[in-house]
Amino acid sequence: MSFPRLVVPEVLDGLAADDPNAQRSRRDLQRVHRVMRTCEIMLRALRKLPITRADARPLQILELGAGDGSLMLGVARAMQDEWPTVALTLLDLQNLLTPATTADYAAVGWEVSVQVGDALTWANGTDADHLPRFDLIVANLFLHHFQEPELRALLAAAAVRSTHFFACEPRRAGLALAGSYLIGALGVNAVTREDAVLSVRAGFCDRELSLLWPTSAPGWTLSEYFAGLFSHCLLASHVPDAEETR
Ligand SMILES: C[S@@+](CC[C@H](N)C(=O)[O-])C[C@H]1O[C@@H](n2cnc3c(N)ncnc32)[C@H](O)[C@@H]1O
Repeated sequence: MSFPRLVVPEVLDGLAADDPNAQRSRRDLQRVHRVMRTCEIMLRALRKLPITRADARPLQILELGAGDGSLMLGVARAMQDEWPTVALTLLDLQNLLTPATTADYAAVGWEVSVQVGDALTWANGTDADHLPRFDLIVANLFLHHFQEPELRALLAAAAVRSTHFFACEPRRAGLALAGSYLIGALGVNAVTREDAVLSVRAGFCDRELSLLWPTSAPGWTLSEYFAGLFSHCLLASHVPDAEETR
């Protein structure tokens, strides 16, 4: 079953960071990720990337719409042998990183910092703003917040400012929609229940994300696929062609 994409503001995005309903919903999200197996889906994708460390410089990773950073912590723990030194930037409208999570990252050798701001402002920045480049940019349950023009801007910025990009988003399909209506069975609150349905309706299918990737960016290999029961992923990797390396 396929249905048209519908993007409407989610309840969580309208709540202050210290709102108890928002805090509870962000904790719910960790449980939802366990059920969606998001960390495993990410690890499977990231281990395919041809990321090699030619020097001692930490791997530079940016997460867009990172929330409290707890999802990437699972990745950090699993990847600590492959990627022992990482500088991770969490970009979000709110600073939700706790000292405990920062310490957990430090324990696996990852240095984490927060960039509070709007990802669209980041995307629309110019070289004159001295924007850093990243080895990898990731996004989880984030891209579906945006309409096509904003998605184009975000993906265009990712193509210019990273070498690899991975997004894991809700899959817009009948099974995922049914699952979103049943999410109350996990004991999540009303905010999470409402946002789950909105997220699936705003999710992606087929090659919708690949078609928004900038055609002007040479040397990118894209793979778009569904993963697990409820997720839809885009994995993009830049391999410079002979022309570019000359
Ligand atoms: C559904 S939550 C996902 C959080 C995290 N990525 C995860 O998977 O657990 C979406 C996050 O995107 C953030 N967000 C929404 N719009 C944003 C924007 N324009 N710029 C930056 N962050 C944004 C919200 O604050 C929220 O933390």
